[in-house]
Amino acid sequence: MTDTATSDRDLPPALDVEINRVDADADTTAGDHDARMEDIVELCKRRGIIFQSSEIYGGLRGAWDYGPLGAALKDNVKAAWKRSMIQLRDDVVQLDASILMHPRVWEASGHVAGFTDPLVECQSCNQRWRADHLEPNTKGELYCPNCGAKDFSEPKQFNLMFRTFVGPTEDTSAQVWMRPETAQAMFVDFAHVQLTSRQKVPFGIAQVGKSFRNEITPRNFIFRVREFEQMEMEYFVRPGTDEQWHDYWIANRWQWYIDLGMRPENLRIRDHAADELSHYAKATVDVEYRFPFAWSELEGIANRTDFDLRQHSEFSGKDLSYFDAERDERYLPYVIEPAAGVDRSMLAFLVDAYREEEAPTAKGGVDKRTVLRLHHALAPVKVAVLPLSRNEKLVPTARRVNDMLKPLFATQYDDAGAIGRRYRRQDEIGTPFCVTVDFETVESDQAVTVRDRDSMSQERLPIDRLPDYLGERLRL
Ligand code: GAP
Repeated sequence: MTDTATSDRDLPPALDVEINRVDADADTTAGDHDARMEDIVELCKRRGIIFQSSEIYGGLRGAWDYGPLGAALKDNVKAAWKRSMIQLRDDVVQLDASILMHPRVWEASGHVAGFTDPLVECQSCNQRWRADHLEPNTKGELYCPNCGAKDFSEPKQFNLMFRTFVGPTEDTSAQVWMRPETAQAMFVDFAHVQLTSRQKVPFGIAQVGKSFRNEITPRNFIFRVREFEQMEMEYFVRPGTDEQWHDYWIANRWQWYIDLGMRPENLRIRDHAADELSHYAKATVDVEYRFPFAWSELEGIANRTDFDLRQHSEFSGKDLSYFDAERDERYLPYVIEPAAGVDRSMLAFLVDAYREEEAPTAKGGVDKRTVLRLHHALAPVKVAVLPLSRNEKLVPTARRVNDMLKPLFATQYDDAGAIGRRYRRQDEIGTPFCVTVDFETVESDQAVTVRDRDSMSQERLPIDRLPDYLGERLRL
């Protein structure tokens, strides 16, 4: 090592972002909320956004299916993350690694030995619980949420990794794990990706994909499940610059949620206490959201040091150090890891967007409406095309408008039921614009009414101006 001064490329740009940062022991009580979890779950089921997996067989705990609108919303969350983390940057590249990896990976990472939660069994009804999730009663005693008994077995450490077998032999030599995080592939493939993408440290490898954890007590809808998706990025930096990069990624990730319309008062950054840190981390913060049930983790942003590259170098026998040609120096990079959950982010965006409001009716009265004020980048449908009725004069023009808009935006054509009901339906799924075709459209002006979801204001526009008008408003 010759030169200890840092080059500009080594250090993060300054981000002027005001974040709400709290101590490790900050109160987790959610307080009053616009949305109740029951309302969100009910809306998701009613509109086919998210529903229980294998429902006709009685469901499977901790597994959920995303219906047409849910799948689109989920795609949009992932697309927004990839846009911010990969597309708009020169220093992050993408990876899509396999879920099944060599079993030694999980020994090196520490998951085989330590990826456990404390499990207790109720001595009365034999239900099993995660010991640290049991709530005390008013007397401060822990009780079984199923039968109320207060007698539990001694806690046992339960490994959360799902195991399966590769090939036809079901013995330990064929045993592999379903990955419990996407992160490890970014470490294991570090040298290959760095070399082939010709990236120089500092740079990142990002991945979106499924992870599996055999959670003892899945709960709170899609918040804690057994099969979920993660959006993780491992950002490799020169040791000594890691703390600045950690701060940079905290600010960057905070801003991502805000830019997608999340209310800042519902978001906070909470530092981990020393005894809360994972075995690999020098420092970690959680991005927390004020869910109706409590302030809870949306994303962790950890300074993982060189723990993972060091472990994999040792366990595989392959040197994963990096030669920094500019500094003429070889080192194991440190890693800053923003690790977010797709399902949890989606739940937070749904909760944050959920409103019950009063809306004027066509007859001059007042009605209640439920509206998802989703950011337009996240809304599963961007434009709904609605003929005033199913009248045969209106339908061909409405179809033509829909066909014109379909290649440009996610549209939905709907001619079933009263127009007011159809507006409510679109409000409930968060569609930013409704385009209505009426008799004036076809008989006189070839213009349509464009209704804005949030203000409910209506504007009359010539059909041929729609692509530009909507394009401008829906542009990212
Ligand atoms: N590689 C680091 C890592 O996996 P983590 O805090 O265990 O860190 C990152 O997970 C994110 O993945 C969490 O913040 C959360 O959003 C999501 N996640 C973790 N376990 C989950 C579960 N059982 N259900 C839904 N999302 C989960």
